[in-house]
Amino acid sequence: MFEISDFNENERVRFKNPPKEFFEAIGGIEGMKKLMYKFYDKIYESEISHFFPQEIEEFNKVKEKNAKFFIQICGGPKVYEEANGMDLNEYMIKVHDDFSITKKDRIEWLGIMKEALEEEAKYVDKELLKAFWDYLDNFSKLTINSFNQKEKFYKVLLDKNDPKEIAF
Ligand code: HEM
Repeated sequence: MFEISDFNENERVRFKNPPKEFFEAIGGIEGMKKLMYKFYDKIYESEISHFFPQEIEEFNKVKEKNAKFFIQICGGPKVYEEANGMDLNEYMIKVHDDFSITKKDRIEWLGIMKEALEEEAKYVDKELLKAFWDYLDNFSKLTINSFNQKEKFYKVLLDKNDPKEIAF
């Protein structure tokens, strides 16, 4: 179920936003908050905690924004206010560009998400869970921006109703 696919920097990344049915199955706004708060609590204790604010109030702000993003990207209400009209996924790639994220960090991040899902999404239909996981597994490749030579590289193919290609 929670497989992490390999990634090499010449690969073109394809992803689909998670289905709204997942958002409903997890329990809507409250369910998604519960999942994402648990995820961030685990992040705080993890090997990638150093990337995140150490001060609890600041950390909680990111935690809250993260939950809002996932509510919106899963087709829930438009509660994420940071993107200023930009495509949400495109904006999210830019947010991560401020940090040097490696392939190993992605694997750690996904491993923590797997734990949170195992605890909070036990009763979600397997196909919906798989669709959510596929989004995370694929989209997370685009948050990697630090390779061996410290180069920044990514190509995006937004695979939605109106697919378009973005190369930065
Ligand atoms: C599916 C993949 C991912 C998604 C959808 C995602 C989503 C998000 C969101 C919504 C935020 C909050 C943005 C805001 O401040 O408005 C965030 C922040 C952040 N994420 Fe991710 N993320 C992903 C993968 C990763 C990975 C692999 C890392 C690796 C370390 C990471 C590190 C961070 C960091 C460092 C921050 C910002 C903390 C700060 O503002 O100080 N993310 N992410």
